[in-house]
Amino acid sequence: MLAPMFAPSVLTLRVASIDTPTSLIKSFTLEAADGALLPGFEPGAHLQVEIPCATGGVPQWRSYSLIHLDPAVDPRAGVRAYRLGVRREEEGRGGSRHMHALEVGATLTVRAPVNHFPLAAPPRVLLIAGGIGITPIVSMASALAAQQRDFELHYSGRTRDALPFVEELRMLAGEKLALHADDDPATRLSIDALLDGAQVNQPIYVCGPAGMIETVLAAARKRGWHECDLHYELFTEAAPQEGDTTFEVELKSSGKRLTVAADKSLLDTLIENGVDVMYDCRAGYCGLCTTHVCGGEVQHRDTYLSDADKASGKVMQVCVSRCKSGHLVLDL
Ligand code: FES
Repeated sequence: MLAPMFAPSVLTLRVASIDTPTSLIKSFTLEAADGALLPGFEPGAHLQVEIPCATGGVPQWRSYSLIHLDPAVDPRAGVRAYRLGVRREEEGRGGSRHMHALEVGATLTVRAPVNHFPLAAPPRVLLIAGGIGITPIVSMASALAAQQRDFELHYSGRTRDALPFVEELRMLAGEKLALHADDDPATRLSIDALLDGAQVNQPIYVCGPAGMIETVLAAARKRGWHECDLHYELFTEAAPQEGDTTFEVELKSSGKRLTVAADKSLLDTLIENGVDVMYDCRAGYCGLCTTHVCGGEVQHRDTYLSDADKASGKVMQVCVSRCKSGHLVLDL
């Protein structure tokens, strides 16, 4: 049985300050517009920020991890400000461009923190981050430092200059921090060498580009790691795949029929047509967009549903999954 999902509460925040730690990354400090204490959060949590549609259509939500860099402060009880890091993606769908155009004093509508990437409490942790994937990992490093737990943090980017928050990371992680740059053979990250030197089933938390995550997971599985010790968060949204075709979706409540183009997700089609669907990760792992299916055959592409749920044909994740039978009926 699937757990029901609830939308977090909505907050109005004001941009209190903006930093530019690298040429492509901006860091935003957000405070409550009325100065109130903000809901606390666990390491790995993120906010959803409302992004207005440039053409006046339905606004969308983008998820950004919460950065916490000070081990002396416990953010779980509530905080005075949230900090986000956003990398500008020229080819993206506009969320990062909107964020990078913000100025101090701008107002944002956000959903309160949620966490799909929680840090468990094992004795020794291996943290691996690529590029802007450092944002949830840095909060984990801060929590581990505060608890005086053992960890290693491997932080990799294309160049040393592309890595934000390095000085703050040095302060909190000290010699537990290893920096890696692709353009420097002396420090380039070798996942094989890293895992050969780790203990099998030492918990791994990895966040970064999809290719990096896949490499880490494949290398760990090959060496015998159990799935329960592999934790990851993808920042990339589901992309169309070769061979994807157009299909029709029917909304049970109204009988309305929508066409999902081959290069568009079912979720985007629903949003653009004003259908109110909850979503978060857009990558098939958070579970928020679970939708009941009343007819048609689903092509499942998520990592959230169990094999039994998928086999039942009665539920799907509309952010990534599609249709095998040309026509789906959804309980919407
Ligand atoms: S939005 Fe997260 S699983 Fe679909």
